Amino acid sequence: MKVGVVVWTEGTTVKFRIRDRVLVERGQLLKVDVDYAKFILRVFDFKPESLLTQAEIARLSKKKEAGEDVEIYDKGLRLYDTALATIICQIDIEGNVHGPTTVPPLFSEVETLNKNDLEQLRLDTGDLPIGYIRVGHKVSEAVVALDGAKTIPHHILVCGVTGAGKSNLGKVLAYSIMRTKGKYSLVLFDCESEYFQGASPTQLGLVHAPESEEYLLYVTPRVQEPCKLKVTITYKGAEVERRVEAYPLVIGYDQLRPEDFTLTGEFTHPQEELLWLVYKLRKRDWLNFLLEAPPDTIYRFVRKLAAKNTINTLKRKIKHLLGSGDVFLEDAPDFNTFDAIVGAVMRGCVVLIDIPYATEGEEKLLATAVARRIFDTYEKLRKHAPEDWEKLPYALVAVEEAHRYLSKTSLTSTGELKENIFSIISKRGRKYRVGALYITQMPGELIEPVIRQSLTKIILPLPTKPDYTKVIEYSPYLDEASQEIKTLDRGEALVISPPSGIRFAVPIKVFSYEEIVGKRLSEEISVKYTPARKIKRFKPLKKIKEEAVVLS
Ligand SMILES: Nc1ncnc2c1ncn2[C@@H]1O[C@H](COP(=O)(O)OP(=O)(O)OP(=O)(O)O)[C@@H](O)[C@H]1O
Ligand SMILES: [Mg+2]
Repeated sequence: MKVGVVVWTEGTTVKFRIRDRVLVERGQLLKVDVDYAKFILRVFDFKPESLLTQAEIARLSKKKEAGEDVEIYDKGLRLYDTALATIICQIDIEGNVHGPTTVPPLFSEVETLNKNDLEQLRLDTGDLPIGYIRVGHKVSEAVVALDGAKTIPHHILVCGVTGAGKSNLGKVLAYSIMRTKGKYSLVLFDCESEYFQGASPTQLGLVHAPESEEYLLYVTPRVQEPCKLKVTITYKGAEVERRVEAYPLVIGYDQLRPEDFTLTGEFTHPQEELLWLVYKLRKRDWLNFLLEAPPDTIYRFVRKLAAKNTINTLKRKIKHLLGSGDVFLEDAPDFNTFDAIVGAVMRGCVVLIDIPYATEGEEKLLATAVARRIFDTYEKLRKHAPEDWEKLPYALVAVEEAHRYLSKTSLTSTGELKENIFSIISKRGRKYRVGALYITQMPGELIEPVIRQSLTKIILPLPTKPDYTKVIEYSPYLDEASQEIKTLDRGEALVISPPSGIRFAVPIKVFSYEEIVGKRLSEEISVKYTPARKIKRFKPLKKIKEEAVVLS
């Protein structure tokens, strides 16, 4: 459909006159198709053009105010609406997509995109589909997908206000990763217990996806020993059973090492030294000793090599990180949750770590300990057994509330960030196939290198200025996007991902997890799902009947 005519161009900006009675929306993708190229534009603002004099405007507005009809002589020539758009790319006659090198001629026609144009943009060539291209607020049928192998090592930043759709996107990504059947792995920490079964009876969780039986490891306080968790799902009146590998969320003190603490970035150098000293001298019961022994005893034990103040602060910080004793236990049962998690990552699974009751300290220590082990394993394999490392899936570690780990407030007095495992992954993970998925409501609080190093950005509604300006400032291709980011609706996003070949801000509507997995469930039910056949493939260690999930 023709929507306007180009009336001016400057740099990569095109101004076009909008046709009468045609709706053009901010963020909409349009095209100008001329002999030598097809230009794809994205609308970012509007501007009425008026040749009316001040006196005419005053007279006409007064008439309107008095309820009289206003008729403008020669209206179409003297008053019209224009839209401003950025040229996001240029498609040559062979169909290759490039950055813009020229501009369309004046008076060329601006049109909406059709299916063929969307296909030419090749935004669906990746293997991790996340949503549909959006035209204004309307959703097209063209899919946008990220290329996992290129995207994961360069990190992903997801930002949006509360309710913007971050968790829905997390589930969509996890689902796409499970569907690659072992090509990639993802570790998710779930503080709200919303990912496994969904946050409410009307929502779906990862267990609803058929792939969860093979590619999900659920680490949760709900089970007491490693098992296949049996979950009965009721969907549209039919029952479906799933058996998901589950592991209890308990970690013995003996599994923790000094690096698990120091890599939280919470300790000063003297505190770190003391931690190592006690570890070297005590070995197995080092942590218990630090926690239980009176400060004076520790002081004498380390032969006065640490100040009493340092000992007291270290004890306090360690207690804070170990939390209330729900996750970290002195005498934990004898199975190694960390090994199970790292093993699942190396098999290409989604590991969902359910931490509904964890304190902030416990969450930090757990996330650090898990991420550190994954990073170390990948790093060691790359160095010592490169041929095995080559076969490993790309691993993505999700960090919710990323600003808590990587904020400006955690900078030292010299302005450097105290090294923590996530700043290490953001700097060095790329070499080892380990990437981070930073999820935050407040990107304005994040340190700049993290925004810059996350080459893929998915920006959900983000109305606050310090937050969107920070993202725009440190990202290419977002220069004119501020108006649009402010006006996005729930589930709508702008995506840039140069590693996936997405070199302009693509407006997308993230898939609704309920819609895509609901469709799969319906198909499963309609082909007469027979649970008995599936169950035979597993030898359950322990059966736990879950409550049926009721869906309206
Ligand atoms: N792309 C989408 N399509 C349809 N519904 C969506 C989409 N994204 C989110 N929603 C719905 O919007 C609501 C809020 O989404 P979600 O929980 O993902 O937000 P959030 O950003 O994680 O919020 P919070 O910061 O509070 O955790 C949910 O009911 C979810 O189902
Ligand atoms: Mg959420």
